[in-house]
Amino acid sequence: MLDLTGKNALVTGIANNRSIAWGIAQQLHKAGANIGVTYLPDDKGKLEKKVAELVEPLSPSLFAPCNVQDDSQVEALFNTVKEQWGKLDILIHCLAFANKDDLSGGFVETSRDGFQLALDISAYSLIKLCAGAKPLMTDGGSVVTLTYLGGVKVIPNYNVMGIAKAALEMNVRYLASDLGPSNIRVNAISAGPIRTLASSAVGGILDMIHHVEKVAPLRRTVTQLEVGNTAAFLCSDLASGITGQVVYVDAGYEIMGMS
Ligand SMILES: NC(=O)c1ccc[n+]([C@@H]2O[C@H](COP(=O)([O-])OP(=O)(O)OC[C@H]3O[C@@H](n4cnc5c(N)ncnc54)[C@H](O)[C@@H]3O)[C@@H](O)[C@H]2O)c1
Repeated sequence: MLDLTGKNALVTGIANNRSIAWGIAQQLHKAGANIGVTYLPDDKGKLEKKVAELVEPLSPSLFAPCNVQDDSQVEALFNTVKEQWGKLDILIHCLAFANKDDLSGGFVETSRDGFQLALDISAYSLIKLCAGAKPLMTDGGSVVTLTYLGGVKVIPNYNVMGIAKAALEMNVRYLASDLGPSNIRVNAISAGPIRTLASSAVGGILDMIHHVEKVAPLRRTVTQLEVGNTAAFLCSDLASGITGQVVYVDAGYEIMGMS
């Protein structure tokens, strides 16, 4: 049975009720996990308030800021986890960012700054968060990150984010190898396109969704809660033999040729 009772799960990347991380947090909570939530701090504290209100029904026992570009915030986050929980079992990395300008038009126009920004936030951050989590995963642990097909195949407009996802997927393999001896598993979910704040920055996202609805074996896209179910499975003992993998939750779209 899928049971996460007694597990401490830290979820990053909730911005609003469309966020994939919100779907994951709900399913981890449903499976019995003790939930901690991070939010991206802003000057006016608007996102903090919004996320706090959204996650209230999950009664999170930890709520902390974390901008993954700021090492001191990441260190402070894991100090808080240590003080409040003592140990960590589950880490959900569900965040990404690229400049909107770099998510449409010619890939060859990608700037050095835009490339570094996308790779730093969307790929390097997984390494940094795993480094913070490792000493706290004293009973072993499970890390899940979110990727997209655009890291493996060329998808119109996905551009620099495709490069970031390729790096992220390779991070998963190196981290799985590095952390496996500590019984820490690291996997990625490659989700089909879902309308969210982040995906709306990618040029033509609605066309992508309509295309998937026509072509995918299940003739539809997926929901945040379906992604959440797979994350809960990967974080549970039912997946104790799975690490270093990219699991597609995309209504089957990835298998299709001539699509
Ligand atoms: N929506 C899709 O179609 C889709 C498909 C496959 C994979 N994904 C991936 O799922 C993940 C979540 O995205 P989403 O679609 O739910 O969108 P979202 O906008 O709801 O979530 C993105 C999150 O990233 C956070 N973030 C951005 N910069 C940050 C920083 N510097 N530090 C900390 N947090 C930061 C934002 O606050 C936000 O919570 C991303 O990795 C995305 O690439 C999305």
